[in-house]
Amino acid sequence: MPHYQQPLDVTTLSSWEALRQHREVMQSFRMREAFQNDPQRFDEFSLSSSGLFLDYSKNLLTQETRSLLMRLAREAGLERAIHALFEGEAVNASEGRPALHTALRRPIGDRLVVDGENLIPQVHRVLNQMTELVGRIHDGLWRGYSEKPITDVVNIGIGGSFLGPQLVSEALLPFAQHGVRCHYLANIDGSEFHELSCRLRAETTLFIVSSKSFGTLETLKNAQAARTWYLAQGGTESELHRHFIAVSSNIAAAVAFGIRQENIFPMWDWVGGRYSLWSAIGLPTALAIGMANFKDLLSGAYAMDQHFLSAPFESNMPVLLAMLGVWYGNFWGAQSHAILPYDHYLRNITQHLQQLDMESNGKSVRQNGSPVSCETGPVIWGGVGCNGQHAYHQLLHQGTLLIPADFIVPVVSHNPVADHHQWLYANCLSQSQALMLGKTREEAEAELRARGMSEEQVQRLAPHKVIPGNRPSNTLVMERVSPHRLGALVALYEHKVFAQSIIWGINAFDQWGVELGKELGKNVYQRLTGHDESPAEDASTQGLIGYFRGRHRG
Ligand code: F6P
Repeated sequence: MPHYQQPLDVTTLSSWEALRQHREVMQSFRMREAFQNDPQRFDEFSLSSSGLFLDYSKNLLTQETRSLLMRLAREAGLERAIHALFEGEAVNASEGRPALHTALRRPIGDRLVVDGENLIPQVHRVLNQMTELVGRIHDGLWRGYSEKPITDVVNIGIGGSFLGPQLVSEALLPFAQHGVRCHYLANIDGSEFHELSCRLRAETTLFIVSSKSFGTLETLKNAQAARTWYLAQGGTESELHRHFIAVSSNIAAAVAFGIRQENIFPMWDWVGGRYSLWSAIGLPTALAIGMANFKDLLSGAYAMDQHFLSAPFESNMPVLLAMLGVWYGNFWGAQSHAILPYDHYLRNITQHLQQLDMESNGKSVRQNGSPVSCETGPVIWGGVGCNGQHAYHQLLHQGTLLIPADFIVPVVSHNPVADHHQWLYANCLSQSQALMLGKTREEAEAELRARGMSEEQVQRLAPHKVIPGNRPSNTLVMERVSPHRLGALVALYEHKVFAQSIIWGINAFDQWGVELGKELGKNVYQRLTGHDESPAEDASTQGLIGYFRGRHRG
């Protein structure tokens, strides 16, 4: 299988230079004035797809900016790369494999032949296997060792084997099926295990060990702790298969752990961890919301896939978001990007997008191993509104950093309480409006004078009241959070991240950087536990080891 290579260093392209020059011209661009001068600006810079509406008019852009950004996307080979992604070329060059999360949402009957094999029937076989398990658990047919039906399912997994499924099960809580509670156990911190296990009964609990590699320390330790707990609670080795199932591409390791082969849901090396919520890694989600809703989630992602594949770049939502990110990161010096969902159910999306974006695009060499010559992925941060307004939005409004933000908000609430949703929506809009409009010195002074302040007070306070404005944001609106729209939303960001990786020429699908910490962790553990008495490589680590050992001695 040929490895995909982004052909050129993006900074050598003529469109890059054109954008650099355009950036200088845009220094004096004021969004406020652009809106005043162009009544069509909102229509010009907004679009709908797959149940999502994107308003990107509150950005530092003109039609010329958009054309230049799209020229850059074309010159960088994005069109060709999108086809390479969907057709199963080895876009993950360092690991020599494709990244085919899009295959997981393709309808039955589709064909995707990679290395001589049609992958779609395999995908649907696993979906059928999931349907059967979900049905048996929901119908009370899957029984624990004391013949009682399962009431609690615990997903043991971390990273992509946790964040995506947790996002979806919590975002779709209004669609939850009654009868089975889903829990997540991710961290190796014993307190997490303790707090969860004391709420469970072993005889009615099913553990799903979710690990693509079946080699992740935190997951294996938690799985062992769960097994010890299950046995201590009265479970037996011979009935273990009723309480432990797995999702993994490492069948041998899962079998060695004691999980029966027929209770292992396969996944494939062509699905990356942070892109795996659509696979059997989504099993806890499917148990929470039912298989029909899970398939709606897939159909929403599929709709976004089709849009990404076929819409012209100028009206292609993932491409627009990606290129706006490139615009700010590479030409305006933005180093972070805020994700601000105004919806309780979507509150975990920031964490999922942190892994998706930062583990994918936190790279500094290109696919061919040469160093990048421009900035790559930004820091992704944020959290739910309105809470953030009373915490970190101050920095967005008056700090010295330029931080583009995505506001995400549904028009309809699942739980209307008096006029709360009108206020929530109003706050979302007024935040992006305030970021864009700001407050001029004249406005600040006039406001203070209107309050009857002396001129001395006005001059003393006015500088603090000035808000620079002209700060960019996108607003993504949907009717109501639903499986279909959530699927489209998550796929939108997956494709945004991929499109950016192509511009920068990096591999969005490997994560070698996290390996060093894992390796060193083993060495530190050996020293902490006295299995290795040699000093650590550095005095700081050695001192901190000593502190721990001193506390645990005797
Ligand atoms: O350590 C990072 C990582 O490999 C992620 O990419 C992945 O999502 C997570 O660990 C969990 O991996 P696994 O599913 O193999 O346990």
